[in-house]
Amino acid sequence: MSLKVDTTTFKLNNGAEIPAIGLGTWRATEENSAYTAVKTALQNGYRHIDTAAAYGNEEEVGKAIKDSGVPREEIFITTKLWNTRHKEVEAALDESLKKLGLEYIDLYLMHWPVPTNSATGEFFIEGWSYVDTYKSLEKVYKSTKKIKTIGVSNFTIPKLQAILDDKEITTVPAVNQIELHPLFPQPKLLAFMKEHGIYAEAYSPLGSADSPLFKNEDVVSIAKKLDAEPAQVLVSWAIQRGTIVLPKSVTPSRVISNLKTLTLSEEDFATLNGLADKHGKIRTCDVPEWKAFVDDVY
Ligand SMILES: NC(=O)c1ccc[n+]([C@@H]2O[C@H](COP(=O)([O-])OP(=O)(O)OC[C@H]3O[C@@H](n4cnc5c(N)ncnc54)[C@H](OP(=O)(O)O)[C@@H]3O)[C@@H](O)[C@H]2O)c1
Repeated sequence: MSLKVDTTTFKLNNGAEIPAIGLGTWRATEENSAYTAVKTALQNGYRHIDTAAAYGNEEEVGKAIKDSGVPREEIFITTKLWNTRHKEVEAALDESLKKLGLEYIDLYLMHWPVPTNSATGEFFIEGWSYVDTYKSLEKVYKSTKKIKTIGVSNFTIPKLQAILDDKEITTVPAVNQIELHPLFPQPKLLAFMKEHGIYAEAYSPLGSADSPLFKNEDVVSIAKKLDAEPAQVLVSWAIQRGTIVLPKSVTPSRVISNLKTLTLSEEDFATLNGLADKHGKIRTCDVPEWKAFVDDVY
């Protein structure tokens, strides 16, 4: 099993094709780090970039896209609506498009199901819920050409169910972007999403910064045996279980190597599938302060 540049794509519920591996850009905030990472990625075979208004790097990402020389229509670009903008989806989207220097976004996600009062910072807006936000997203999706696909992030089964149950909503979210890696595999949520045609996008697939996965003896020994990097084993595992995967790096050599995957043997795949049972579930992404409002995530 040798490592190869991964060109897998998946088909979303609206027919759009999405490259299985996307470059993550959270915490790529040092000057030029997002620029260098995105340009390196695109010039070395990536065709999918994941950013967000909240990451503060949309301008750098947009400049890198332009300077990469890769035609816009070959690249799948995701950005996300921040919590304080739930009541003004189109204005927030326009700001993101302007910063990115783009006419349209391939995938626009509600970043968290947590409408937040921008004046007070409270995680609550009187008379407004994330279902209303999704309706606004759907409206912009249907009435303009600015968004090709809509989806959500950090949604649990009850929150997805609320979207699916609403009679006014006719567009099933194409994806739900959630934390997924061998120590936090979320099988029940994945099964529910599969049943409803919602793709999973794996965030923090390497276990985020200071990842316990890079020290995990099973991950390390599988990687050693296959003459691969632990990160390549984790990305391969994510694709093998049918999820889109968003490894982040600002280190050019890692950006390049994280796009190379291999097929894991049934035995190695099963070992990784068993890590959460062996060690207990570990959520590695920093828990945001509004955890109490999304605690059914855990
Ligand atoms: N929707 C959401 O709420 C949400 C939340 C979290 C993340 N995300 C998305 O998912 C992406 C990925 O998640 P993440 O950023 O939390 O973490 P991640 O991709 O799991 O891990 C990133 C960390 O791993 C390091 N790394 C990358 N490749 C490596 C390699 N080959 N060997 C050793 N270390 C390596 C990176 O270091 P260097 O960068 O220094 O190389 C960085 O510290 C984000 O960037 C973002 O796009 C979304």
